[in-house]
Amino acid sequence: MNFLDRNEFNFAPSQAVTEALKNFDAGKLCFYTRIYDTGRKSIVSVYLSELYGVEESRVLLGYGGEDILKNAVHYYLTDACGNRTILIPQFSWWYYKSIADEVDGTTIQYPLHETETTFRYDIDEIVRTAGQVRPRILLLASPNNPTGNGLTPDELDRLLAALPKDIIVLTDEAYASFVTGDISYVSRLVDKYDNLIIVRTLSKFYGLPGLRMGFGFVGRGQEKFLRYSNKYLGYNRLSEDVALAALQSEEHYREVARVMNEGRRMYAEELGALPGFKVYDSVANFILIKYPIALKPALQEALAAEDCKIKFMNEPGIDTHLRITLGRAEQNRLVCDTIKRIAQAG
Ligand SMILES: Cc1ncc(COP(=O)(O)O)c(C=O)c1O
Repeated sequence: MNFLDRNEFNFAPSQAVTEALKNFDAGKLCFYTRIYDTGRKSIVSVYLSELYGVEESRVLLGYGGEDILKNAVHYYLTDACGNRTILIPQFSWWYYKSIADEVDGTTIQYPLHETETTFRYDIDEIVRTAGQVRPRILLLASPNNPTGNGLTPDELDRLLAALPKDIIVLTDEAYASFVTGDISYVSRLVDKYDNLIIVRTLSKFYGLPGLRMGFGFVGRGQEKFLRYSNKYLGYNRLSEDVALAALQSEEHYREVARVMNEGRRMYAEELGALPGFKVYDSVANFILIKYPIALKPALQEALAAEDCKIKFMNEPGIDTHLRITLGRAEQNRLVCDTIKRIAQAG
């Protein structure tokens, strides 16, 4: 089966990841880590602290990005402020509303604007909406799933500068490593804005969704939240070794991202030329495509016959769209050819 529906990794892990697993000393699992005796939480948070230049105490770790997002939403929507409102992008990951619902939060959406080749955030509009709604949390996703658009570090800075400081700005950067390897803005912004939380993951660029390892960075002055999200007996020690190996394999994963880019270009050129199709710019490991909705049953049948799973979107406003994970060259070719065959027959 070709799993191209959930933005997973259809490539091999790096050599270092495979070796970390092979060489893991099972005896380590017989003990909790002792790193907390030194006031730190994990070998991974120590490594990330050095890599990103953010104090270790302000580095978060979690069971995937989802865990960190859930922790932050649950904590801030139920804290002493009494404000349970979260603002999220109009077309975004369903999970944001779901975790707010879990604590009886109120979710309000702000618009994403469709342009010729992409969607975009309107920063002034977000600032205005946040000023009116006064949410406890403003959630940004950059790049956003499924629309694929994001904010530049300068745009994020401009947005943060204009927002009231009592709003927690929770920025989901699950796909950000695909945009650039330049991570210097992360410390610059979390050092500048106390209300900023940036969430990243090893599931996408580093290709380890099955590892369940996410990380994040928090502005100053959020000690209570850091205590709330901490795991006092440490983290999974096998995952820690594998995570370090992945973080040290940048070259391997950059090469995979390059292959994904070739797939992205192929979809844009070949499907973008079909009548009724629109391929959006994307910077993540997936691509969003608008298609003639009448083709849906035939596309579903043909892709299933080729053992290919892709995502047929069904949220209002974005329900004539496909989201396809960028896979290996032959997988991309197969999906592209199958869609072309159905489009040309129909
Ligand atoms: C936008 C976005 N954020 C976060 C995640 C979380 O992934 P994980 O929990 O595997 O880190 C996903 C997964 O698909 C996602 O699409």
